[in-house]
This record gives sequence, structure tokens and C-alpha cells, in this order.
Amino acid sequence: MSLTAQIREKAAAKGKTIVLPEGTEERTLKAVKTIVDQKIAQVVLLGDESAVRGAASSFGADISGAEIINPATTPLLDDFVQAFYELRKEKGVTLDKAKATMLDPLFFASMMVKLGKADGEVAGAQNTTGNVLRPALQIIKTAPGMSAVSGAFIMICPDKTYGDDGIFVFADCAVTIDPSAQQMAEFAKATVQTAVDVCGFKDPKVGMLSFSTKGSASHELVDKVVSAVQIAKERFPEIKVDGEFQLDAAIVPSVGASKAPGSEIAGSCNVLVFPDLQAGNIGYKLVQRLAGAEAVGPILQGMDKPVNDLSRGCSIDDVINVVAMTALKA
Ligand code: ACO
Repeated sequence: MSLTAQIREKAAAKGKTIVLPEGTEERTLKAVKTIVDQKIAQVVLLGDESAVRGAASSFGADISGAEIINPATTPLLDDFVQAFYELRKEKGVTLDKAKATMLDPLFFASMMVKLGKADGEVAGAQNTTGNVLRPALQIIKTAPGMSAVSGAFIMICPDKTYGDDGIFVFADCAVTIDPSAQQMAEFAKATVQTAVDVCGFKDPKVGMLSFSTKGSASHELVDKVVSAVQIAKERFPEIKVDGEFQLDAAIVPSVGASKAPGSEIAGSCNVLVFPDLQAGNIGYKLVQRLAGAEAVGPILQGMDKPVNDLSRGCSIDDVINVVAMTALKA
């Protein structure tokens, strides 16, 4: 069974509720029937009911299995406005501003997750990453012990020579533009968790990437990765992590053995943590386009409750898979 089929099956066993705030978006609506039929999750769509139903019928989408909530008319609104006001009043939010904000489906969805009215949220077929993330960062916030959110991609490579039978988990490819060493260490921990929870990795091994391997180059950019490795080893002794590694030293056994001979995991890493968002975002797209890998994600990590962002170029299948991963993380 493919990894994505396994993820859908595992999600179905959890019976979670996922809110989809982009309630009139075509691929989102077309994904609903499979999500409901395969019991991947219960679905809540946000929006004016007649607009949501009208959009679904114009796209030929069967949304009969989904619940529809209109933020403007639901009895939940008053409690949500009050909760948002309490959370943000120190930041200058008034009750009027809180009400206007809660009418925005992306903010409403994050509040549903925060207050336990849904187990997770998926959006981004229509909205930018920033617009999906900002409400979640403001309302749901990071999990205890995590100072930043990161976005992981599961990279399923057709060539099974490297990684875990050709599968890798990459991070951060989506969120934190210039992480500190501390944050890179947290990404290592969070990405191992994703590799275990979502991919079923039995032996996750994290390579912290750089343009240098074990001191082959010196620069402040390398120093950050060296510190990140040290912090990760001290704070998270339960994970296997090492570096700083160039990519080939991290994943190719012969290169790992020659460039980092003392390392237990050089050459066999299956979880890769990038030094910044430029490297991570470019890196996953290179592997996707040039190696023909399937890129599943981003899976947001480090948030107190699961929210996931779709690409605006996503397919219906992507929506279904990301809903499944969100349910699995809930
Ligand atoms: N981790 C955790 N919390 C964060 C982070 C982070 N990385 N960044 C901001 N926050 C918090 C802030 O502390 C703030 O909290 P507060 O208001 O309670 O004090 C809140 O989030 C909002 O902060 P803002 O400064 O308003 O948010 P900002 O404008 O910085 O946006 C964002 C944050 C959206 C994550 C921004 O850093 C960003 O745009 N990142 C890049 C996203 C991107 O373009 N990715 C590439 C495309 S995705 C792809 O290709 C798959």
C-alpha cells in the first residue's frame, strides 16, 4: 500500500473533525466526498450556506456529508469574539475589532480548533501561506517547548537508494525564514515526531545541513548549524541527530564515511533539517522537480494543535491527503 493510502487509512481510524474555511473553493469542495466516504475525517465547511451549496452544485461536488457553519450567523460567534478579545486585548484589539476578525473564516477556523470545536484545520487552496498561518500563530500558537513553527515535506523519491527506502522528511521548507540555532534544534525534534507519526519511520536519523561537513568550512552561517546540532543533542537526547553535514555527507554512505568518519548517522540520514527557508524551500522543489519525487506537505509542526497549509496549485488529491495528515496529527 502506498504511503498516502496508509496515511488515509490511519486517519480514518481516528475519527477526527477537520474544518475547511475555504468553503466555496472548487478543489476543497470536490475533495469532501472522498474524505467523508473514506471516513478520513468529519468535515466542517465555513461560509454562507447558500453560497457554499451554490458553489458545490456549480462544480458538481457532493458535499452532502459535510456540516456547514456560517461564522456570521452561528451561535458560536459571541463566544469566539470574546475569546479572541481576551487573547489579543493587550495587543490593542477591541471588541469591535474582535468581531470583525472572527467573521474572517480563516480566523474563525483557528478559533474552532483552539476551543476544541474542530480537531484541525486545512486551508490555502485560495489563500497565501502567510494568510493561513497568521491567524493560527495568533490564536493557536506554538506548542509548549517550541518557539517557532516549521513546515515539513515528506519526499517520496522514485529512486529508493537513499533515505528510508527512498522516503525522506525535510524541514523547514515553509514557515520560519531565518531560524536561530535553538529553533533549528526544535525543528529536528518536531520533524522526527512527524517522521514517526505520519511516515511510520522506525529509525529516524536527522542530518543538520550546511555547505560544510564537520568543520570543512568556517563561517558564521556554519556556526549556526554547529550550535544547532549541539543544542539538539543536549535538549533532545532521545533523537539521533548529527552534523553539520553537506547533503551528500548526510545521505550517501561512502561520502558520509569519508567526510564524517566518527559519525554514527552520516550517510544514512532520512530526516533533513535545512539551515534556513531559502535552502529548505528551494531544496524540496529541486527534489520534487528534478528527481520526480512526490512531495507531501507542508505538514506544519510545532503548533499547539494541527493546522495545515495547502499550496494554491494543489490538486483535489492533495486536499484529501493534507486533511488525512492533519487528522493523524490531531
Ligand atoms: N513561528 C511561531 N510563531 C510565529 C512565527 C513563527 N515562525 N512567526 C511569527 N510568529 C508569531 C508572532 O510571534 C506573532 O505572535 P503575537 O502576535 O501573538 O505576538 C504572530 O505569529 C503574528 O506575527 P506577525 O509578525 O504578524 O506575522 P508575520 O507577518 O511575521 O508572518 C509568517 C509570519 C506568515 C509565518 C511569515 O514569517 C512568513 O510569511 N513566512 C514565510 C511563509 C512563506 O512564504 N513560505 C513559502 C511558501 S510555502 C511553500 O512553498 C510550501
